Amino acid sequence: MTDLSIKKGTELTTESITPAELSAFRKGLLRWYDKHGRELPWRGTRDPYRIWVSEIILQQTQTVQGWDYYLRFVDRLPDVKSLAEVPEDELMLLWQGLGYYSRAHNMQHAARQIMEEHGGTFPREEREVAALKGVGPYTTAAIMSIAYDYPLAVVDGNVYRVLSRYLASDTPIDTTPGQRYYRTMAALFLEEKQPGRYNQAMMDLGAMICTPKSPLCDACPLRDSCRSRGTELIDLLPVKAHRTRVKERWIDYFLLLHRGQIAIRRRDSRRGIWKGLYELPNEISDREPTTLPTPTRGWEIRETMPLPDHRLSHRLLHLRVHVCGTSGDANPTYPDGTEQIPLSDHGTIAFPKPLRHFLDHYSAGNRLL
Ligand code: ADE
Repeated sequence: MTDLSIKKGTELTTESITPAELSAFRKGLLRWYDKHGRELPWRGTRDPYRIWVSEIILQQTQTVQGWDYYLRFVDRLPDVKSLAEVPEDELMLLWQGLGYYSRAHNMQHAARQIMEEHGGTFPREEREVAALKGVGPYTTAAIMSIAYDYPLAVVDGNVYRVLSRYLASDTPIDTTPGQRYYRTMAALFLEEKQPGRYNQAMMDLGAMICTPKSPLCDACPLRDSCRSRGTELIDLLPVKAHRTRVKERWIDYFLLLHRGQIAIRRRDSRRGIWKGLYELPNEISDREPTTLPTPTRGWEIRETMPLPDHRLSHRLLHLRVHVCGTSGDANPTYPDGTEQIPLSDHGTIAFPKPLRHFLDHYSAGNRLL
């Protein structure tokens, strides 16, 4: 835990914030948002389906990258029914590169829930929205407030940062009491008459002004009452009590190439971050391999290419692809569960991001990775 003993932040209670301060906070924030809020493709809609899609995509990626994904997604799947019915492979292609593919599976599950339990109409009640698969408190608050103007405060990374700095609170954001504290404070500050605009204003303030590094305090609408402005606390907040432990994994992929065909297989669609995607047959190790792996019978490694390390939230993946040809055997053995596709068809199939980049480069004849 970060040592804040030099100048410990106090934990303000709800009673220590006056109604006048709350009113000035809301007014300042919303005025700033009117002038400086971002124009985003989902901002013009009150359609809960589109708001839901945008929020799930934005849990995966930055707004700039999320923009294209969102537009492609709602263009191909404009409503709950189309999402409920889309074939899984096509859904995975739309999600390809966003990561956490279970989120896309959960969305499809939820779309089917809406078809069955609500006749295809997106639910309006907080309780019903919160019961959708993959929809947690954050997404519930975002949908309810933005689509229906229902007064629920969102609490995401931006809100933790803005509130912990504004209140100079060193209460950790990753403990149960800490989360309760910030939820209470977020609900206190919420502008209940315009919760959708207020919530998005908090997100934009966190993304544009109250940034994790080098915040632009001089341009902040809350600067006059921010408790940590001008202090060293700004760079230390918010506090986390636990560090995420990153585990390392080494993955050796085999590109089994024979007569223009490659072997691929679908990842177990019940588990893991890349579930439902296709991949090359591989070996995974939790130690750095000291020798080259052995492909199945009838194959030999022609070339080994290291890929850039791939960082996930709690994994660091070291990746190599071994390009293999047949060793004179007309009928090489393929690993269990694989199927063959023409290498030239790889673009029609969803792969994890590092394999996507590799296959794009490799098939374009560009070996420099
Ligand atoms: N991040 C997540 N949801 C957002 C939204 N609706 N507006 C801006 N940033 C966001």
